[in-house]
Amino acid sequence: MPLIAQLSDPHITVGPLAAQPAAGLQRALARVLALEPVPDCVIITGDLVDRGRPAEYDVLRERIERLPLPVHLVAGNHDAKAALQEAFGLAETSYAAQYPAFTVVVLDSLNPALGDAGLLGDEQLAWLDRTLGARPEVPAFVCLHHPPVRVGIPGMDAIRLVDGPGLAEVVRRHPHVARVLAGHLHRAVTAGFAGTVLSVALSTYRQVDLCLREDRPVAFVPEPAGFLLHRIEGGECVTHLVHTSHTAAPFGAF
Ligand SMILES: [Fe+2]
Repeated sequence: MPLIAQLSDPHITVGPLAAQPAAGLQRALARVLALEPVPDCVIITGDLVDRGRPAEYDVLRERIERLPLPVHLVAGNHDAKAALQEAFGLAETSYAAQYPAFTVVVLDSLNPALGDAGLLGDEQLAWLDRTLGARPEVPAFVCLHHPPVRVGIPGMDAIRLVDGPGLAEVVRRHPHVARVLAGHLHRAVTAGFAGTVLSVALSTYRQVDLCLREDRPVAFVPEPAGFLLHRIEGGECVTHLVHTSHTAAPFGAF
């Protein structure tokens, strides 16, 4: 059965603060490789690195280039498009990958003019429409960094995807979209979206406090890190939350 591991927001960096994000990504990738069966691919839904620097992408490339499975990289607001493309030889930051049983569509919502908020734009939405329409017979995963809806955390809602309604309009036309996958929130959040399911992955590094009040700033909390595992069977998709910190080896048996 097809399995897709969705990691997010590793915020890889260099210098004195490099160790924790690197360890977080390493733990997540080790857990992915320990899954039986091993997933078909890994998707990292943005904020691949912390400051968009070439040296940070070099570290990320070292971490993932020898993995025995494909990795699909999504640009986030902490990324830099040119440096990301250069480090990984990417012709475009929005692209599609076709697997026998599913399609991965990667979108680029990075828009430096908007600060930390995201935008896809009409051109990219039109491309998404065409891309989804080209392969309607297999489930599709539409991946971007910025969640396209408000989730009730005011500090994060302020920097969500600006053209979420535009994305919804396109996705609604394609019932074979199994999931819209996003990051950015540093929390695991699920929502109905345009006739499908929006799955926002937690960070492999650090989590955002569940702060639902307007008068509180966004803060990070030492909650467990992890990733999401999407499993397709018979056209249906099920999502598992896999923690990679605060955990231990399985014990006992049923
Ligand atoms: Fe992030």
